[in-house]
Amino acid sequence: MAFLEIQNICKDFIVGSTKLNVLEDINISFEKGEIVALCGPSGAGKSTLMNIIGGLDKPTSGDIIYNGENIISKSDTELDIYRGCEVGFVFQNSYLLDDFTALENVMMPYQLSFNDDTKTAKQYALKLLEDFQLIDRKDHYPKELSGGEQQRIAVARAIINSPNIILADEPTGNLDRTNSNHLIELLQTLTSEKSITVIVVTHDELIANKLDRIIKLEKK
Ligand SMILES: Nc1ncnc2c1ncn2[C@@H]1O[C@H](COP(=O)(O)OP(=O)(O)OP(=O)(O)O)[C@@H](O)[C@H]1O
Ligand SMILES: [Mg+2]
Repeated sequence: MAFLEIQNICKDFIVGSTKLNVLEDINISFEKGEIVALCGPSGAGKSTLMNIIGGLDKPTSGDIIYNGENIISKSDTELDIYRGCEVGFVFQNSYLLDDFTALENVMMPYQLSFNDDTKTAKQYALKLLEDFQLIDRKDHYPKELSGGEQQRIAVARAIINSPNIILADEPTGNLDRTNSNHLIELLQTLTSEKSITVIVVTHDELIANKLDRIIKLEKK
């Protein structure tokens, strides 16, 4: 069995009296430490699938098997742990908290998941900022960071709890070519050095072609 298996996933949305079949029998296997592009037209259900894999939304039917366990049947408490510790999320907008510095933003998931252990959180966050060459920006607030720096801080925040999966939904959507390449290289390093499985939703063919594999979702 693969490290992460998407099995027979269907997702319908009911809007008024209309049923929208967004995902229909999706089956995908992911191995540990691969970086995969998830492509397809707008409305194909890429974000919907990412939310289901990340335990943010439930499918209408189907299973998500992670490390041999079905996350669909997990309790709310188990799902909290899965979302907090196994999965890191990166979005098109960094969603950094404006009133907190870069360092504090990176520390936050650790503090939330491990009961506010500020000393360890700070130590881990400083190490990540050093690895990402952002240590000299640690006391900057998000508005004092460039778009590329904000996204790299968002990646640092996504991995502070040592997740095994990173779900990145159009992470380079707001970046120029240089910063996009830099971000993708950073994600590639995480796959090779930490064996993290990274799924990147992208509309950018140049980026998709750099990754290990491309999966295309068709619009229903
Ligand atoms: N909560 C919801 N209720 C009803 N319909 C929804 C909901 N969320 C998404 N949809 C519909 O599901 C379809 C897929 O949406 P989704 O956001 O997954 O697409 P996407 O592939 O990520 O598109 P894009 O490339 O534009 O981000 C869209 O047609 C959208 O309108
Ligand atoms: Mg989307």
